[in-house]
Amino acid sequence: MGILNGKATVVTGGGRGIGRGHCLHLGAAGAAVVVNDVDIGEARAVVEEIAAHGGRACASDADVGSRQGAEELMALCVAAYGKIDALVNNAGIARDRSFLKMTDGEFDEVMRVHLYGTFWCSQVAVRRMQEQGTGGAIVNTTSAAHFGNFGQTNYAAAKGGIASMTYTLAIELARYGIRVNAISPLGTTRMSAAVMGDSKAPFIDPTLNGPMVAFLCSDEADYITGQIFGTGGDRIVLLEQPKYGHRMIKPGGWSLEDIREHFKNNLGNALEPIGLFKSPYPFYGGVKPPGKAERP
Ligand SMILES: NC(=O)c1ccc[n+]([C@@H]2O[C@H](COP(=O)([O-])OP(=O)(O)OC[C@H]3O[C@@H](n4cnc5c(N)ncnc54)[C@H](O)[C@@H]3O)[C@@H](O)[C@H]2O)c1
Repeated sequence: MGILNGKATVVTGGGRGIGRGHCLHLGAAGAAVVVNDVDIGEARAVVEEIAAHGGRACASDADVGSRQGAEELMALCVAAYGKIDALVNNAGIARDRSFLKMTDGEFDEVMRVHLYGTFWCSQVAVRRMQEQGTGGAIVNTTSAAHFGNFGQTNYAAAKGGIASMTYTLAIELARYGIRVNAISPLGTTRMSAAVMGDSKAPFIDPTLNGPMVAFLCSDEADYITGQIFGTGGDRIVLLEQPKYGHRMIKPGGWSLEDIREHFKNNLGNALEPIGLFKSPYPFYGGVKPPGKAERP
């Protein structure tokens, strides 16, 4: 007996890379899987792999970057398997470019597939889960890029939006028995190759994210919601959630003069590292225009 026997699941962007791994692990754990990918040939190949191991799957070529695509995809799951128990929002694209050169088209496209795609697929699936009265699970896909990363204004904003959406949906949907978590995966894929270029980064098997996704979709994880896990390689890491940290308190509130007097020796000494790599705060010397010296 697999822990997902009898469950109907949908994986967006399941035709290759990390999503393919999710599909294979969901299928191996007993779930019926709708393998969605705009590249239908890739989706069909994954369906065949699942079937070859005795699992149940079907392919969908819906574009999740449209409400109509999300509706088509969930309708296919209901037509094939009678219900939707779990949705894995994984589909993604990268259109990296430095901020000043980024076009509206590059920004929109990434928002459409990642942020709107997650919103549309989740809303359509949740309406169905609510009608079923069965509860359900959603696993979203964020990225450490949402901490801030050079050249990824669009992608970081979309992935940060997905993290915030995960917290919010977890709060709103618990009353229906629907859990919403996210992973921040790792894997050597077409996307990672496009983002990292010719770097000699070691190969990371993208299917290693799948077991945690299968676990999160299962009833054994019925106490886990609103959480983000770094997955992939040899790690599973619980992401610390954003929260207020160091504070200055002054009864009656802070005047501009008070702030000028006290900020530097209080919060000013504790500024947070910025970005993916979390190196110590680099701007104590001032953020200066070209040619102007930093403060010693
Ligand atoms: N590879 C990594 O190390 C890494 C790191 C952090 C986050 N991620 C995230 O993991 C997810 C999977 O990425 P990957 O590395 O496997 O990329 P990938 O390019 O190998 O696979 C993504 C799949 O999504 C499909 N897709 C794209 N747009 C779609 C759409 N509109 N509708 C349906 N399918 C669509 C693509 O055809 C492709 O098969 C993405 O959300 C990505 O942002 C990946």
